[in-house]
Amino acid sequence: MATGLKTTKINTPENGNKEKTLLKELFAEELKSNYWAEKQLSKVLLRMSKGATAIELSNAFKQHITITESHINRLEQTFKILGVPARGKKCESVDGLVKEAQQVMETTEKDTAVRDVALIISAQKIEHYEIAAYGSLVKLANTIGKPDIAHLMQQTLDEEKEADKILTQIAESGININADIER
Ligand SMILES: [Fe+2]
Ligand SMILES: [Fe+2]
Repeated sequence: MATGLKTTKINTPENGNKEKTLLKELFAEELKSNYWAEKQLSKVLLRMSKGATAIELSNAFKQHITITESHINRLEQTFKILGVPARGKKCESVDGLVKEAQQVMETTEKDTAVRDVALIISAQKIEHYEIAAYGSLVKLANTIGKPDIAHLMQQTLDEEKEADKILTQIAESGININADIER
């Protein structure tokens, strides 16, 4: 969540400040939060990939690291378009989700399908967070009159949705059933 917005003045075309608005500032804060999040996620995805039991799940995590790199890249392009330095700001929600994913590795048994089920749950919580975050950025980019940024954020949004779908497919392809017979 964005916090620390300093400007309280409402800027209108009448008072001569057409460029800077509170909404644009909020947008930039959300970008920073997503930038921080994606960088953390690329690290945790590597750990999840190493911790996964099923090869298809491990590969899906690995593949999402590459996709996450392009999410970072698009955020950097967006900062550039806005003329804002590309800087991250800690996102408490993602920090919690990352901690939860790490806990899965510590509290589940290695080489089990149950661990994979728990990893998929963690990963899908992360993807759903990202879907909410990028969905908002797409809408807001259009509102602030930046269709080029909306297009970039839409590409990322589509990839997050696709990642979520892939995780569901992997879970349903046998991991859930295998986990159900583990003792
Ligand atoms: Fe992402
Ligand atoms: Fe993602």
